[in-house]
Amino acid sequence: MKVIIDSAENIAAMAAQQYVNLLKRKPNAILGGATGSTPLGLYAELVRLNKAGEISFKDASSFNLDEYVGLDGSHDQSYRYFMDHNLFDHIDIDKSRTRVPSGIDTSDPAAYDKEIAAAGGVDLQLLGIGNNGHIGFNEPGTPFGSLTHIVELTESTREANKRFFASIDEVPTHAVTMGVKTVMQARSIILMAIGPAKAPIMKAMLQGPVTENVPASVLQLHPDVTVYMDYEAAKLL
Ligand code: PGA
Repeated sequence: MKVIIDSAENIAAMAAQQYVNLLKRKPNAILGGATGSTPLGLYAELVRLNKAGEISFKDASSFNLDEYVGLDGSHDQSYRYFMDHNLFDHIDIDKSRTRVPSGIDTSDPAAYDKEIAAAGGVDLQLLGIGNNGHIGFNEPGTPFGSLTHIVELTESTREANKRFFASIDEVPTHAVTMGVKTVMQARSIILMAIGPAKAPIMKAMLQGPVTENVPASVLQLHPDVTVYMDYEAAKLL
């Protein structure tokens, strides 16, 4: 694992450069998208670079990590809505080639893995990390062999995300998420962490044992992971 510690602004710029390099080498690359507060700086930088003509997504495709069950793409807290508003609507990607797991049709979640495989597999998967070590919505205890599946959200995750909803009661109880194995099949992975709340879990993920109790610790086993952290997220290392 490559670990890079810098300011939030600089890590967004460095992560964006990985996208520039990838898309230069492979214009039709398959990108793995993530939501949350953490990728916002990176997405803003990708939009800026796209408008400046330094990166093009016109032949790229994307598969997002996860979605809330019960929210369709028009709900302003759905992850489809998030991706459209923070990235896809502002870059030259063909929206028909952007995929987010359906939170409405959840009859066969693992069909998402087949779609990813049929498209050629994810080239660069972006990840945030939950305070409890989740990646996507793979909460502690999720088997490392898991494919895309439905999960019941932990109270800690619902608490962390309630800031976006009118009240905790409106935070969905379930989500559909790529599994740990789905994530690990990506050719390369970027994990980003920003802020002091992430410091304990970054220490556990990077310096603790590889365990299903800390889902992100599995990344220690992946051959091509770059971890970008700001100084606060890195303060316990
Ligand atoms: P955050 O969420 O970027 O909003 O901190 C990360 C996550 O829960 O995966």
